[in-house]
Amino acid sequence: MKKVLVIGGTGTLGKVLVGQLASKGYIVRVLARKPQKAAFLPQDGIEVVPGDLLDKGSLLEACQGMEGVVSAAHSMLGRGRYASEQVDVAGQKALIDAAREAGVPYFVFLSVVGAAPDHKVDFWRSKWQIEQYLIQSGLAYNIIRATAFMEVHIREMLGKSILKNGKVMIFGKGDKATNFVSVKDVARLILHCFEHPEHHNRIFEIGGRDNISRLDIINRYSQKLGKPVLATHMPNGVLRVLSKVIRPFHPGISRVMFIADLFDQEEQCFEVEPLLREVEMEVCGVEEVIGG
Ligand SMILES: NC(=O)c1ccc[n+]([C@@H]2O[C@H](COP(=O)([O-])OP(=O)(O)OC[C@H]3O[C@@H](n4cnc5c(N)ncnc54)[C@H](OP(=O)(O)O)[C@@H]3O)[C@@H](O)[C@H]2O)c1
Repeated sequence: MKKVLVIGGTGTLGKVLVGQLASKGYIVRVLARKPQKAAFLPQDGIEVVPGDLLDKGSLLEACQGMEGVVSAAHSMLGRGRYASEQVDVAGQKALIDAAREAGVPYFVFLSVVGAAPDHKVDFWRSKWQIEQYLIQSGLAYNIIRATAFMEVHIREMLGKSILKNGKVMIFGKGDKATNFVSVKDVARLILHCFEHPEHHNRIFEIGGRDNISRLDIINRYSQKLGKPVLATHMPNGVLRVLSKVIRPFHPGISRVMFIADLFDQEEQCFEVEPLLREVEMEVCGVEEVIGG
């Protein structure tokens, strides 16, 4: 299987995945809303085409001649036309339909650990809905449920500010453990799925080595810098009120605040050993983004 269409190839996971696929000899087509945003992708064997999950015609065209599709796009923070329920439900269904209509035999969908029909967060329910839609589509598939990406939730949301200013603001108390996975490992699992048809039609769950609280992450940065990091906390009550007030204007930011408050009350731990027993691969810990 050599020709792969990636949706979300400009994203945190997508760009790493596109690089890994190309380095293994796959011919990769990236569908991007703004193709100029994908100009940084290595050029050899990579084609960028304009398109949008909300434009079924562009999906059908992009799927032509492809042997696999990876959907690594989402719009958790979107609003208006790009609200999550439009992109993450209607758009993802349109993509699965387009792949089937174009005769693409295999589809990989990126989901989240914990996806369930009764999850407290709508985004987790949407992921579950699309998982079901894909399973029932008749396409050969893999669903990859991942924990929080460390490149987003540690490097971008904590590390950037700590390394630049020596201080950081965290949502809530930050004392509950969370599992963080590297997008490099998620991309490796997707490649494994492409290369092992005997593992098709399965849901795989992947996390990283570490279950660690945000406060402990800040301590790790502090050790690395050799000086204390100033952490300020947005109280949970403020998160709850802001989430409600902002909702009519920006459902995406409201959702993020709701999730931050919820996950500050409940640990989000994950054990990766069952996956590693089945799939020959290694996963890294948070030192990948914090440094040794
Ligand atoms: N981030 C996490 O912690 C995490 C954890 C578990 C699972 N996941 C899942 O993993 C996947 C990748 O996440 P990520 O964090 O790497 O994403 P990301 O960095 O936020 O990038 C999102 C991607 O989706 C694309 N996109 C958004 N709306 C689109 C539309 N209407 N049409 C076409 N493309 C659209 C964006 O393209 P543009 O360049 O056009 O904006 C971008 O490439 C997602 O399915 C996500 O739900 C993420």
